[in-house]
Amino acid sequence: NQKTMILGIETSCDETAAAVVENGTVIRSNAVASQIDIHRRFGGVVPEVASRHHVDQITVICEEAMKKSGVSWDDLDAIAVTQGPGLIGALLVGVNGAKALAYAHGLPLVPVHHITGHIYANRFVQELQFPLIALVVSGGHTELVHMKEHGSYQVIGTTRDDAAGEAFDKVARTLGLPYPGGPEIDRLAKGGTPTIDFPRAWLGEGSLDFSFSGLKSAVINYIHNEQQRGHELNHANIAASFQESVSEVLVKKTMIAAERVHAKQILVAGGVSANSKVRSEMEKAARTRGIPLIIPPLFLCTDNAAMIAASGTIGFLKGMRADLSLNGKANLFI
Ligand code: KG4
Ligand code: ZN
Repeated sequence: NQKTMILGIETSCDETAAAVVENGTVIRSNAVASQIDIHRRFGGVVPEVASRHHVDQITVICEEAMKKSGVSWDDLDAIAVTQGPGLIGALLVGVNGAKALAYAHGLPLVPVHHITGHIYANRFVQELQFPLIALVVSGGHTELVHMKEHGSYQVIGTTRDDAAGEAFDKVARTLGLPYPGGPEIDRLAKGGTPTIDFPRAWLGEGSLDFSFSGLKSAVINYIHNEQQRGHELNHANIAASFQESVSEVLVKKTMIAAERVHAKQILVAGGVSANSKVRSEMEKAARTRGIPLIIPPLFLCTDNAAMIAASGTIGFLKGMRADLSLNGKANLFI
């Protein structure tokens, strides 16, 4: 058996997902049950509600992933599961589901860090080349990661406050847009012009860290001030200006990082990499510098289990194993 066949399980936030991946590069199946419609009513993810829906969905989704893959339990090499970071109640459902399946089928269990999953979503597009710089931008993360080889991760920049996606969601909420706000802002910005000069947090010469809470407050204050003065708000221009500010900082810092480590590739992953402005500006900047850029297709940008299986494949081949005492970790470091 030359192939490495891994079942991946992901439940760190609001998607219950399972997928079977061959050799870390071929998606045999990819099942996702999204809870977005459920959480939209509350304007954001409610952790307790998320856990309950994961419990409802986990068995169904794992069975669906196995069935659609055409792979039998006997042909699996291991089960990979997101150990963290994420919502603890949500993580526990995936971890316990994975433990039960591993025990029942006599399979090894491989713990996966969620961020490394987002990074490995790119391997479905193209083989990774090292050294590389990966920007992981989602609702919970804004991280620049330097990789010198498979399975080795060095975080060289991170947010000091809000994640980029969090800023998108909060600004959207202030504009009266539904959750999740990122795609709404993206759509709205297409009809606007970046006329408002919102701040960019550079945090000092050469810093690779991020900060989005100042920008978020600036946008919210701007909206409140304009409303108080009785001015008509131009929502599209606000969205476009905010988006430009976020994208400019993300792109510049990623390029500084890539040049610093002489990156052979730049990867972008996580929910915010679905943003059309971030994608187009990142493409322009990478092309100018002659550095190949990979951004996964939209369905692999947001949370899924194929990416967990892909990262888990590397962990598996490196001999990473967990026993049945494995626990979810809300704050897990790479
Ligand atoms: O990776 P993801 O699905 O879950 C986390 O691990 O957080 O990312 C979700 C985040 C949300 O904040 C959402 O608003 C944002 O990604 N997002 C976007 C876009 N699509 C999703 N942000 C900006 N533009 C988009 N098109
Ligand atoms: Zn994620």
